[in-house]
Amino acid sequence: MIWIKPLRRRCETLSTVRNKHLSVQVSESQCVMDRKLPFSPLKQAMSAQLGIEARGETTARAEHMLIIAVCDRLEAIADALPAAPSNESLSELLALLRFGIPAHCRHEEQELTSALAGNADAPRWLHHAAALIKAEHMDNENIMLELAEALEDYRNRVDRHGTTSTDVTADQKGANALGYLIRHFFTQMRRHMAWEEKVIAELRGSSD
Ligand SMILES: [Fe+2]
Repeated sequence: MIWIKPLRRRCETLSTVRNKHLSVQVSESQCVMDRKLPFSPLKQAMSAQLGIEARGETTARAEHMLIIAVCDRLEAIADALPAAPSNESLSELLALLRFGIPAHCRHEEQELTSALAGNADAPRWLHHAAALIKAEHMDNENIMLELAEALEDYRNRVDRHGTTSTDVTADQKGANALGYLIRHFFTQMRRHMAWEEKVIAELRGSSD
């Protein structure tokens, strides 16, 4: 009994020192982990790889198939609400909505303009159709920006409160509003691409 008390005290002291040492190590490692980096090596490598892939040949149809896949992914997100999409899948979707699909539209508009300029026999309705496609692109892009923001807000809200916060009505409203926006977007986008392909086919046909 004489030795137990000092031994226990010594063990407690050692354990306190070890815990303090560990907590210092953890806080140092947290500082290192949170230090700002001037660039992201991981994203830079991914961007370089995407750059290589982007320089490969493709077709307008192949690009449309990629956009159809985006619509399918969005539909799956709407079906899964109120569950939020994972951060990994969301970050790629946001980049496609904000940058990828608008870039596709710009390229398509240039192609339409040069095809019409090089085809003196193109009927008047094709000129109107091309103008309408450009107007729809603008409309779609506004919806894409709104949708990207809504998806991000929803993900952040779920990260903060989970899918069932104390304000159940607000949760339900948020999920319903996002679901409506997603469904509106992919319905409009699928319809837009279907008639756009018809216009492009007519334009090519009229130039033969
Ligand atoms: Fe397109």
